[in-house]
Amino acid sequence: VDGGRDEKQEQLDRWRVSPEGAGLTTDQGIPVDDTDNSLSVGERGPSLLEDFHLREKITHFDHERIPERVVHARGSGAYGHFRVTDPLTDYTTAEFLCDTSLTTPVFVRFSTVAGSRGSADTVRDVRGFATKFYTRQGNFDLVGNNMPVFFIQDGIKFPDFVHAVKPEPASEIPQAQSAHDTLWDFVQLQPETMHMMMWLMSDRAIPRSYAMMQGFGVHTFRLVNAEGRPTFVKFHWKPVLGTHSLAWDETQKIGGKDPDFNRRDLWDRIEAGAFPEFELGVQLVPAEDEHKFGFDLLDPTKIIPEEEVPVRPVGRMTLNRNPDNFFAETEQVAFHIGNVVPGIDFTNDPLLQARLFSYLDTQLIRLGGPNFPQIPVNRPVAPVRNHHRDGYHQMEINGARSAYHKNSLSGGCPAVGGEGSFTHYQERVDGAKIRKRSDSFQDHYSQATLFWNSMADWEKEHIVGAFRFELGKCEQKQIREGVVAHLNHVDHDLAVAVAKGIGVDPPGEAVIANHGRSSPALSQANA
Ligand code: HEM
Repeated sequence: VDGGRDEKQEQLDRWRVSPEGAGLTTDQGIPVDDTDNSLSVGERGPSLLEDFHLREKITHFDHERIPERVVHARGSGAYGHFRVTDPLTDYTTAEFLCDTSLTTPVFVRFSTVAGSRGSADTVRDVRGFATKFYTRQGNFDLVGNNMPVFFIQDGIKFPDFVHAVKPEPASEIPQAQSAHDTLWDFVQLQPETMHMMMWLMSDRAIPRSYAMMQGFGVHTFRLVNAEGRPTFVKFHWKPVLGTHSLAWDETQKIGGKDPDFNRRDLWDRIEAGAFPEFELGVQLVPAEDEHKFGFDLLDPTKIIPEEEVPVRPVGRMTLNRNPDNFFAETEQVAFHIGNVVPGIDFTNDPLLQARLFSYLDTQLIRLGGPNFPQIPVNRPVAPVRNHHRDGYHQMEINGARSAYHKNSLSGGCPAVGGEGSFTHYQERVDGAKIRKRSDSFQDHYSQATLFWNSMADWEKEHIVGAFRFELGKCEQKQIREGVVAHLNHVDHDLAVAVAKGIGVDPPGEAVIANHGRSSPALSQANA
């Protein structure tokens, strides 16, 4: 496969065109005599409506743009493959995680979250890390980020959060003073954001290269084995080159000179044969241990500390081929957390559950109707047989006489429930319909503190610098004070150091102990 061709590439060949050299035609295949001069009445007369080439050329151009993604609009993609090295046969029936002889084609899209399609790569932001595995059992999409937690616990807040992150409606100035106001206002009023804000203010938010970035599935998912036994799982990607960031000062300079820095780097690495590689790791939690942690496994603002559940490396992904057409592939690819294969299932994480609705819903408008799974980059290599019919952009000519289940006319109505079919894990749930989660969802600080305490002194200085720079741009003093008050729950030294840099009175006393650890560098700075 390395340098060779896989089944996905062979499938894509069916749609590849390269019109160079041959004669120009219209969409109807009619050879064109002149594409520089429109048909007119005499040398000085009006252009004629009957010029079908003029009309077609301009109409197609007029319709070139589609809506950019509502989030993660800026991205870069690459093809590659995945191989499992340590089979998970005891835990899942997903073949691509069990059979070491299989090479599974993948397409990965890395992205920033907040900026628009043409925005700079080097901004402080979360990075998306979305992988489509074209498995023989159908597509599995691992739609993750480069940070292991998220800003909010429940998807019902996602529109609020994204509205707070995106430019303000009136000015549409990204990263303007006022945009800082809305994000920090959201943060101070929704302290569940605190753990993620620590990651966002750290150097993780300015990766040096997409090939040097970790990825996380964030949510707790479920693996299910052949006996139907479930195991909770967190997915991790680890870059073989190690995790490296830019320095803040570098991002400022590079952003000016080469806003496509990460995109160019990914492209160049692949063209040069220095293929980005990532190790897939899993944290496995037996079903009976569901309640043994001090937090809820369904809370996406919490990690499972690796000291408690180590990450087990299970496979390796190599990205070895750039797309041929950015729009056709990287722009039209449609990841969906709901694309799972037999042996991988969901949990009741309320953020995950909302995502299950959101991705398909948005893609129906972004990609123009229900047939976008037929777009080459989205097609599974597994066979597709169903009774769907019609819709905008239907590309298939399904000759079956009957489009319903059951039928006896088409001589081969697709069977259901056969071996290998997806069966939802039969989790038993019981409870009243309420709008409330476990009490531990209210603990917004202890893992933020854990993160802070895991940082080296120089990393802490970078975090303080980032808070000062970003929060310091917030015009409203009461918002700056509100965020500092939350930081005082995370770490007193941190809160004091940030307060001093942004014109806010340092908080008088620690709200929680510093777990016996204080940073000498910061204590000095605060003295
Ligand atoms: C897009 C990750 C939470 C809605 C994306 C993409 C990634 C991602 C990587 C870009 C996919 C691509 O490259 O095409 C995540 C992660 C989340 C999260 C890791 C939390 C753990 C949410 C939530 C919602 C949501 C809670 C909504 C309730 C969307 C939408 C898109 C998107 C609408 C655009 C999809 C498209 O147009 O194709 N997300 N997201 N995300 N996400 Fe999320």
